Amino acid sequence: MLNRPEKLRVAVLVSGGGTNLQAILDARGTVIQHAEVVLVVSSQPGAYALERAKKANIPALAISKKELGSQAAFEAALTQALEDAQVELIVLAGFLTILSTDFTRRFAGKIINIHPALIPSFCGKGFYGLRVHEAALERGVKVTGATVHYVNEIPDGGEIILQKAVSVLPDDTPQTLQRRVMEQAEWILLPQAIEQIAESSQAAETNIK
Ligand code: GAR
Repeated sequence: MLNRPEKLRVAVLVSGGGTNLQAILDARGTVIQHAEVVLVVSSQPGAYALERAKKANIPALAISKKELGSQAAFEAALTQALEDAQVELIVLAGFLTILSTDFTRRFAGKIINIHPALIPSFCGKGFYGLRVHEAALERGVKVTGATVHYVNEIPDGGEIILQKAVSVLPDDTPQTLQRRVMEQAEWILLPQAIEQIAESSQAAETNIK
């Protein structure tokens, strides 16, 4: 019984600075053993995440809904790029363009997302980036964190894969809280979740043979 020789082919979808993308790239060869990043797609042409991909010699492109004019054209271009690269797992890492039900059903069980809070708190429509941490501070919670989950047609509603709690400190601003959640939770959880999925998909392949 041979091990599946190929690594799981992963695309990382981004919209901004790409610190989560960087955490994934930095985990290759350590935490991430059974997956490879074969494509980076940014919904924003100027995103710094694209520079990070280029520095790591990963094929990267921008696909802009604004430039393409419609959700359908955007998703058609995205689907083509994912299929051309034979992607098996799609990782949303700070990807801020909403995906339609058609798209999430087509790739059911193959899309994961990182959210900077403990779902079901501070999630769903309108909760992204700093807004999540502003809401947590306004509510006065003492603990927040991050969640990696599968993506379905409900925003932040898919099955939870991993979660990690992070303390809120008395003097936190949205910015300091965002940074702590990234350092103590997001950058750790996302590579772990990718490896977990890649490893179990390899084990499943091995069992069939
Ligand atoms: C991250 O904090 C991520 O969890 C969040 O956007 C940030 C992207 O940062 N995503 C969401 O809020 C999705 N609802 P990055 O570009 O530096 O990885």
